[in-house]
This record gives sequence, structure tokens and C-alpha cells, in this order.
Amino acid sequence: MRAVLCKTLDGVDALTLETIDPPKPGAGEVLIRVHVAALNFPDLLIVEGRYQVKPPLPFVPGMEMAGVVHGVGEGVEGLRIGDRVSAVVTWGAFAEFAIAHAERVVALPDTMDFGVGAALGLAYQTVWHALKSRARLRKGETLLVLGASGGVGLAAVQLGRQVGATVIAAASSPEKLDVCLAQGADHAINYRDSDLRKEIQAIVGSNGVDVVLDPVGGAYAEPALRSLGWRGRYLVVGFAEGTVPKLPLNLALLSERDIMGVYVGEFFRREPQARLDLARELTGFVAAGHFAPVISASFPLARYGEAMKALQGRVATGKILLTMSAMA
Ligand SMILES: NC(=O)c1ccc[n+]([C@@H]2O[C@H](COP(=O)([O-])OP(=O)(O)OC[C@H]3O[C@@H](n4cnc5c(N)ncnc54)[C@H](OP(=O)(O)O)[C@@H]3O)[C@@H](O)[C@H]2O)c1
Repeated sequence: MRAVLCKTLDGVDALTLETIDPPKPGAGEVLIRVHVAALNFPDLLIVEGRYQVKPPLPFVPGMEMAGVVHGVGEGVEGLRIGDRVSAVVTWGAFAEFAIAHAERVVALPDTMDFGVGAALGLAYQTVWHALKSRARLRKGETLLVLGASGGVGLAAVQLGRQVGATVIAAASSPEKLDVCLAQGADHAINYRDSDLRKEIQAIVGSNGVDVVLDPVGGAYAEPALRSLGWRGRYLVVGFAEGTVPKLPLNLALLSERDIMGVYVGEFFRREPQARLDLARELTGFVAAGHFAPVISASFPLARYGEAMKALQGRVATGKILLTMSAMA
């Protein structure tokens, strides 16, 4: 099979496309013939050794995919060869075949194409876990999303609307904000060209926002935290900007605010059934036509470098896909 290989932790330029033997499913595992994989920011971190998980070298990067079950390991129940599925893994998806633990595999409805299935993986599950299980976002509350046109960000805009919250999208350009508004954001703030805190105040007044979802970190975190109202919840999702912010804890005390960590990989490991329930709920929303992942661009597997650099270059809106052209 063709696969993207990470042999040294020197980033995207050091990756290679090679032909290697397909993996074999062990007990409890499923072998998937991948049709489409989707990219996530952590794919950039893991190939530089900057992700929480450090796979043994060499490894195949890639965290989300959709395809057809090609083999099942011992003890797997409820999944059969030929089933259309999607799966979230920690690495392995940027290849023509990939292994996933059965409890990370979700059936795809017949009407859902593989691109949508792949794109509905890590970012959506992270956001739904964050909004539903961690912050318990409610209808009528106000949600501020930073980096709102990224993979995680747009999922938060769509799922915030799904809950019935008022969604304020913050991003770095008018074009990116247009995408957020088209996906249901009620308000848009260009945080590159304006004072984030003042813009939020102009929208919500002295009440503040109820929930902040932050996949960006850096300099936006403090004004966002200060913009939370009484018992507001701050969801720490990621640091795409590159800096882990250090925040004064009196900001939590003053309005009884909660700062909540979100680490979906560990949630998957500790609560596999809860994760499966969230994943099935997301598939149901999309199958029912409530929203669909926004696909920014689609590249054949051989152009993985361009795809990853598009994500790195901060130009993507929504999801970037890799298609296994030999499978199409
Ligand atoms: N906690 C978890 O379990 C979990 C799970 C999945 C992902 N994450 C994290 O969530 C974050 C977002 O992931 P994603 O896949 O949504 O990434 P993405 O699609 O690339 O979106 C990231 C957004 O961050 C903003 N950004 C600000 N500074 C940036 C920079 N220097 N480089 C790139 N983007 C920058 C960009 O928006 P603007 O240009 O509008 O600022 C961009 O749209 C990452 O930090 C990732 O590691 C965490």
C-alpha cells in the first residue's frame, strides 16, 4: 500500500510517500481500506515530536478517515468486511489501509460520502465533547469561538447553533469570518484588526459571554477570559498560535468562572462508550441535514505535503481532505 511515512521528527518536509506492507488487524482491531483521510492541526505537531503522544518511528501520520472494512481481528463484534465506516485514530490514517480499534469505528450511513465521514472525526468529536460534556452549553447562552474558521472552530460554530446558543465567531480576516457567518454564526469579530474585548462588549454588554471555546491560545486568551460573565466557562482546546498563555487566576475567582481543559484523546481512552455515543450523535445530525462539514480543499494522497502546508499556512477554512485516488 502507499503510505505517508514519518521517519524523523523534522516536520512536513521530511515526510516521504512509500510503498509498504498493509498492517494486520490484531485482537479488537479493524483493518480499513481508506477512501478519504482528513487533516487536523495535531498532524503537524506529531510529525515534529510536539504532540502529547509520540509514536515509535517510523510511523504513518493521520488521525481521521473513512472507508470500507477490509479485515476484522479476533473478538470484534458488530463490524463486518464491506461495512462503510469512519474512524478516529492517533496515527495511521494517511495511507491506503489503516488499523483502528473497533471501539473507535462508527458506521457511515449509506447516504453519507466518505469525505464527509472523514471530516466528521476528531475536530467534531472534540468540540461536541467540549460543549456538551464539559461546558454543558445550553440553548439561549452565548458562545464565543476563537479561530472560528478552522476545523475545530467551524465545528464549534455549527454545534453552538445546533444547541441553540448565540454564536460569536472570532477570526483573522473578513473572508474567514464570511465562512463563519455562512455556517450560522450570529456575530463576527476580526481579532487581528480590532480590540477583541471591546468588540465582545459591544455585542453582549456587561453580562459577558457564557462559554469561550479556545483552540488558538496566545494573546487572545486573556481578553477572552475577561469577557466571560458570571459562572462562565472557558474551554482550553489548543494553542494553534504557538504560545501557551499564562493567565491571572483572579479572573476565575472574580466571576466564579470555570477554566476547563479538553483532552479528547484521553477522553476516548477512558470513556470509549461515551465517545461512541457522541460520534453517532454527530453522524445523526449530519444525516438529518442539520449541518455539514465545510471542506476547504481536497488533495490526492501524493500531494500530502501541499495539504499539510495549507493547514500550516493558516489559509484553510474548515477541513482539508486527502483522497486515496487508487481507491476512487
Ligand atoms: N484538546 C484536544 O483534545 C484537541 C483535539 C483536536 C485539536 N486540538 C487543537 O485545536 C487547535 C485547532 O486545531 P484545528 O485542526 O482546528 O486547526 P486549524 O484548522 O488549523 O485551525 C486553527 C486556527 O487557529 C488560528 N491560528 C492562530 N494562529 C495560528 C498559527 N500561528 N498557525 C495556524 N493557525 C493559527 C487560525 O485562525 P485565524 O487565522 O482566524 O486566527 C486557524 O484557523 C490545535 O491547537 C489543535 O492541536 C485539540
